[in-house]
Amino acid sequence: MLEFNFKNVLSSVTGENGLEESEIRSFEGELVSARRNLNELRRGREIGFYDEISDIGMVDAVKKAAEKLFSKDIATLYVFGMGGSSLGALFLKEALTGFYNRPQKNRKVNVIFSENIDPAYIKNSLDAIDVKKTVFCFVSKSADTIEVVSQFFIIKEILDKTVKNPKDNLMFITDKESGFLRRYAAYNGIETLDIAKNVGGRYSIVTAGTLFPAYVMGFDIEKYLHGALSYRDNILNKGVFENNPVYTMAEVIYLFYAKRKRNIFVPFVYSDYLREFSRWFRQLFAESLGKDLISPTPVPAVGATDQHSQLQLYMQGPQDKLIGFFCLKDFGSDFSINSGEFKEFDYLNGKKLSDILMNELKGVELALAINKRPSFRVTLDKIDEFSIGELSFMCMEAVAVLGMLLKINPFDQPGVEKGKKFAYLLMGRNDDSLSKESEELKRLSEIPDLPY
Ligand code: PA5
Repeated sequence: MLEFNFKNVLSSVTGENGLEESEIRSFEGELVSARRNLNELRRGREIGFYDEISDIGMVDAVKKAAEKLFSKDIATLYVFGMGGSSLGALFLKEALTGFYNRPQKNRKVNVIFSENIDPAYIKNSLDAIDVKKTVFCFVSKSADTIEVVSQFFIIKEILDKTVKNPKDNLMFITDKESGFLRRYAAYNGIETLDIAKNVGGRYSIVTAGTLFPAYVMGFDIEKYLHGALSYRDNILNKGVFENNPVYTMAEVIYLFYAKRKRNIFVPFVYSDYLREFSRWFRQLFAESLGKDLISPTPVPAVGATDQHSQLQLYMQGPQDKLIGFFCLKDFGSDFSINSGEFKEFDYLNGKKLSDILMNELKGVELALAINKRPSFRVTLDKIDEFSIGELSFMCMEAVAVLGMLLKINPFDQPGVEKGKKFAYLLMGRNDDSLSKESEELKRLSEIPDLPY
């Protein structure tokens, strides 16, 4: 079970910059109403991540599609997806390589990703695989995203020239009904999996969009969903203050942002296998909460690496940050240090490498507290599917609760949508809903560049 420790946010530790326990308690009404709002959205089936984790039909469909893939002479699954449609799978892929004895290199099908449209990267990836022995999997909830559709056209042309039946090398994971890729698949008989209508991209870590590539990599998706489900049920059975880590974490981030002007939230992970988690969490946080001119800015960091990078700024720079540490109880593998005859390193002798890393984390927490800087800590038992399931659910629900506290909709992304539409406009696609903006774009593009 995940542990949440928020001692270092209290004023008894961080002085006048901390929170009084009474202040935390007095917030109960807001938390109860946040929970009520989320329950209503869930009951009205407007948000789906709470229930998708118990969708046995989805798990069966993922496993069936994967078994079909394994039965073919296929060596690579090449996954294309943007933002929420790839970050979850990248997080699980990286975490998986942290499990003992399960390196991907022993798998029949190797899974690779393009989460961008850098042409050289895609060219190099294509050069490294046998196209005939590859299934190209396009993940897009909207089935319309410009980057993914462009990648599809490139791959389609390559397949048309290379294989007899291109449809055997294609697969789409999209919304069940709408969007270009879905229509194309229906017309051309391409294998598809569905992403539930009420689960948006950045919450789609619990959908087929993430779980299909994860299963192919060898990730135990049932154990993962079990972790998420047991965490959900455990939280739902608790009062908002009854040792409830999700609600307390959301409240702490909210209070430091809204009442203490701490505009930056740093998810600071102390495990190499959580680096991609921190990128996934940043996107979940930023795209869900950054709207209506509010929200803290998430800035991920990795310890101990970034202790030699931005920690100086966090320790003595502006008093505008709240840090959330994420670490492990058990690293799985370890080394003992033998400092031999080097007497000045006696204090290291016999220590495990994990002891050094954890003592560095504790040292940073203490130094922050002494400098009157708040932090909290989330501890996973270890890196395995169950703990990663718990962690994913904890973060998704905390962000949803934060959205309610900030009084914004954490499930849409109007700013990103506008950026996408501008790109279409620049490439010549007409959009009557943007007539005002297209005049402004024209004016801006007529201002000459200023090259030196
Ligand atoms: O979280 C989101 O909604 C976005 O990051 C989307 O995942 C991203 O824009 C890709 O969209 P789609 O899955 O529709 O291709």
